[in-house]
Amino acid sequence: MKPLNIAVMISGSGSNLQALIDHIHKANRGGNIALVLSNKEGVYGLKRAEENHISAMVIHRKQYGSTAEYEEALMKVLVEKEIDLIVLAGYLSFIPVSLIQQYKNRIMNIHPSLIPSFCGKGFYGEKVHEGVLQRGVKLTGATVHFVNEEMDGGPIIIQEAVAVDFNDTVEMVQKKVLEIEHRILPLAVALFIEGRLRVAGSKVEVLNS
Ligand code: GRF
Repeated sequence: MKPLNIAVMISGSGSNLQALIDHIHKANRGGNIALVLSNKEGVYGLKRAEENHISAMVIHRKQYGSTAEYEEALMKVLVEKEIDLIVLAGYLSFIPVSLIQQYKNRIMNIHPSLIPSFCGKGFYGEKVHEGVLQRGVKLTGATVHFVNEEMDGGPIIIQEAVAVDFNDTVEMVQKKVLEIEHRILPLAVALFIEGRLRVAGSKVEVLNS
């Protein structure tokens, strides 16, 4: 069976990209990372792609005269690479609505909290964990969800929780949550490859086989 072509979109260190390289791309599970797209030059995630001989490019809105030209360029490269699934892995820019519609329920995002808590505008990276500590919640975690037009609002695929301890710092919470991210993102992609995710309205059913 033809492996599924995956595009991974990054903006930073790419530790989630690395998890996908290790557990999907190299693991012969029917998924091939055909393309890494970054909206920033020089981020370590691009080095990870280079080290694994994965085609990578920097593409961002400011390179183009208009949003329409940017969207056209983005769509063109995804079509050229015959991308079946897009994974946002630490990607901190906007996704054009045209892309969300074209790839309905074929764009996944990893968010470092238990959505719907600590998500949406202003909640990204460490700011999520700052909010968690400020509110004093006893549980946090990570969420993989399909992307729709609402930021962090798409159907939830997988969540995993972890305890927040009284003396936790932002760095300690981030470390605990990243460990979860690096587990559940490859798992969600593997389930997608196996055709075991069924979207029913705002919910996702994981099929047994
Ligand atoms: C992580 O906090 C992740 O939860 C969020 O982006 C941050 C950087 O991830 N999505 P990565 O190391 O670049 O994958």
